[in-house]
Amino acid sequence: MKISLSALIVSLTFVCAQSPFFDQEEKLDQTLKKFQVTGKMEQIGRTGVPAMHAVLLNEKSILIIDKAEENEAKLDSGVSAYSTLYDTETNEYRTLLLETNTFCSAGGFLGNGTFISTGGAESRSKWKAGRGHQSIRHFKPCSDSSCFWQEFPTGKMYSNRWYPTVEQLPDGDLIIIGGSNAGTKYNTVAKNTPSYEFWPPRTDEPIQLDLLLHTLPYNLYPFVFLLPDGNLFIFASTKSIIYDYNNHTVVKELPRMPGVPRSYPLTGGAVMLPLRPENNYNVEILICGGSASPKATSEADDTCGKINLGHDKPTWEMDTFIHKRVMPDGVFGSDGSIIWVNGCQRGYAGYKDANHDPTFDPLIYHPEKPIGSRWQQGLANTDIARMYHSVALTLPDGRIWIAGSNSVDPPDIHAHYPTEYRVEYYSPPYLFKSNTRPKISHVPRIVTYDTQFNILLHLQETEKDMDKIQVAMLRPGFSTHSMHMSQRYVFLLFEVSEDFQAITINSPPNPNIFPPGQAFLIVLYDGVPCKAAEFFIEKEEKDLKI
Ligand SMILES: *[C@@H]1O[C@H](CO)[C@@H](O)[C@H](O)[C@H]1NC(C)=O
Ligand SMILES: *[C@@H]1O[C@H](CO)[C@@H](O)[C@H](O)[C@H]1NC(C)=O
Repeated sequence: MKISLSALIVSLTFVCAQSPFFDQEEKLDQTLKKFQVTGKMEQIGRTGVPAMHAVLLNEKSILIIDKAEENEAKLDSGVSAYSTLYDTETNEYRTLLLETNTFCSAGGFLGNGTFISTGGAESRSKWKAGRGHQSIRHFKPCSDSSCFWQEFPTGKMYSNRWYPTVEQLPDGDLIIIGGSNAGTKYNTVAKNTPSYEFWPPRTDEPIQLDLLLHTLPYNLYPFVFLLPDGNLFIFASTKSIIYDYNNHTVVKELPRMPGVPRSYPLTGGAVMLPLRPENNYNVEILICGGSASPKATSEADDTCGKINLGHDKPTWEMDTFIHKRVMPDGVFGSDGSIIWVNGCQRGYAGYKDANHDPTFDPLIYHPEKPIGSRWQQGLANTDIARMYHSVALTLPDGRIWIAGSNSVDPPDIHAHYPTEYRVEYYSPPYLFKSNTRPKISHVPRIVTYDTQFNILLHLQETEKDMDKIQVAMLRPGFSTHSMHMSQRYVFLLFEVSEDFQAITINSPPNPNIFPPGQAFLIVLYDGVPCKAAEFFIEKEEKDLKI
């Protein structure tokens, strides 16, 4: 029998159309195309306690810290828990016992790997929580279920610090800056703690920081970034300085940022943009959102300002923030973009009907693009209001972990804007750009400064363009109150082997570029990130104690 070609095509088409998989494949293709543009938002898992604070401990565990209050998660004793350890693989949590009240505290990692939680609030006997204003709490990360909180009666801060900021320092210790000595809606002369101290202690008493005298009443949770020259950038309200914390002197006063105050409770968000060796680690700081006054009717701010500290006379370049947004969370995408989630369009950071009109849409900011085309919009949104006491963290797999929102006191899952225990994962468009992701292996556990190290690279046969490869290291930081303390993204110099199977990477030249401790190594091919691998950057290998 002779069959014409066109008849064959018709019959083949018919066969395809009849295939039980045909519809599914078509749908899969359309869904994939959509995700390539919008990314994907998924709700999986519960945190047990409201995620007021969160920090990534290793490749899969997130330490969640709330304040002493009545929560879903209970300890074996039946008393409500206020800390849990969340597993991003199983989406389950384990309750953890804390001894002092962690309400509006801060935290960071020491160079030896121990996580330190600092400060908090008054005792609450119902939850067996002692006074936490001066607390230093230790948590040594583990990869099994053996780790727990440790508090020592003798190790405390000098001052009461509610709403302080912690930044990790090049010596592997912490600086703890500002706060108030008691609970307050906004800071006052009587409650101000206008000073800083170190952990472990470096001085015999706290050191006064004048900036915090001149920025009342909106100076809580100041924005602080360690700069590659070893100084700190410190911002409160609308003012900022470059500060030498070794000699306790102001190096430079920067111009006032235009617009509304940006610090708690008129909370905006701040990110130090990715550092690059090609421009000698030039620093640009981006600050977005905020609110004009601590009133429920106050419209949130819809501007961002960026300052280039490399200029002789730095100025604020103003840009849109697309939406009005107070309490935004700005975190790094694995590709070095900045992903903004959470927050709302009206009100301020506080309890009792203080926040309204949640912002459901993520936004992505591409710092390398020219002004006017930096914002990526139209992304997959959420329908969960995440306002006061929400958090976000970048995960090693490139997704963003989003949790929290608790603007009612006591917690209430039936309130108009309920206490949120639900977790969401946002998978940005870069996770759908290609069918395959680059893979890395043989990443050393400890890397020292100013050295070279080798890893193995696994790419597809067709991926042979050197110019499409980038290498970077990420520290997701400590998330609370729109703060992402010690968050950092640094590109690294590298050389790829001729067969594309190995990379020799230059570690950061010194600890001012990336202070000691936990880091995640990322290799990108054409903007698609690998699953990041945890490693530790240290002055000496023996410094790591976990
Ligand atoms: C700051 O202190 C360091 C030592 O802590 C010292 O080496 C340096 O010279 C001082 N710089 C200034 C500008 O005083
Ligand atoms: C890390 O250093 C701190 C401060 O010296 C110390 O208290 C802590 O026990 C150390 N952690 C480990 C695991 O040795």
